[in-house]
Amino acid sequence: MDKERKLIIAGNWKMNKTVAEAIDLVTGLKRDLVAVKEVDIVVCPPFTALSEVSKVVLDSNIRLGAQNMSEHQSGAFTGEIGAGMLKEFSVRYVILGHSERRQFNGETDAMVAAKAIAALAASLKPIICVGELLAEREAGRTEAVVGTQLEGSLKGLTKSQLEESIIAYEPVWAIGTGKVATPQQAQEVHAFIRNRLVAMYDEGTARRVRIQYGGSVKASNARELMSQADVDGALVGGASLEVRGFSDIVKNSI
Ligand code: PGA
Repeated sequence: MDKERKLIIAGNWKMNKTVAEAIDLVTGLKRDLVAVKEVDIVVCPPFTALSEVSKVVLDSNIRLGAQNMSEHQSGAFTGEIGAGMLKEFSVRYVILGHSERRQFNGETDAMVAAKAIAALAASLKPIICVGELLAEREAGRTEAVVGTQLEGSLKGLTKSQLEESIIAYEPVWAIGTGKVATPQQAQEVHAFIRNRLVAMYDEGTARRVRIQYGGSVKASNARELMSQADVDGALVGGASLEVRGFSDIVKNSI
């Protein structure tokens, strides 16, 4: 597939996989995807598996991501993990502001922006998630909601920092529900996001930022979604938990 930006496909394993299961999964992915050069491939295991997974992906085309991090470097923040700790395991990416963290952990746009700035300061690439609820879409508020999340979650990021970042558009109603956005619905919001980035930054910067789609992506719908002009990759949950499921998404996107 001929794309303006290199596709980036990331697996968000969420709270799944023991260390042994994680090693199995990533070993299978490494074998299946060894020849892929056209796509940036990222896996985001739980914190507890980062150390072992990092050993498996060493010298491979698979990069490592985390699912969250603290905005603080270190100190009295019980239960938190800082960017420096992630870097010990060669983590390159970190998912920030996933809708589950916004919903269950009270994360706000301001917190996401603070975390993004901390990540970038440590040379980690943030994957910044935005997306509307079903009720918001039905009320015709998708653009208002996504626009506000973008403005808030990118607050304080410079142009060059934005270019290091990835935006993930994940309509909440499509996450884990099997209800995927149609390629047209995805493209519409991705184009809206890119236009908003033009307004917030400039044309050249906005054109270089990669925008992933997330929400019930699987091997059978990946190709059509990825063929949309402003869809530059995928953030995959459920289908990233099996070797075949994830590697077929990557292969079908090329
Ligand atoms: P899903 O999750 O692919 O299971 O819908 C996507 C996500 O939450 O990142």
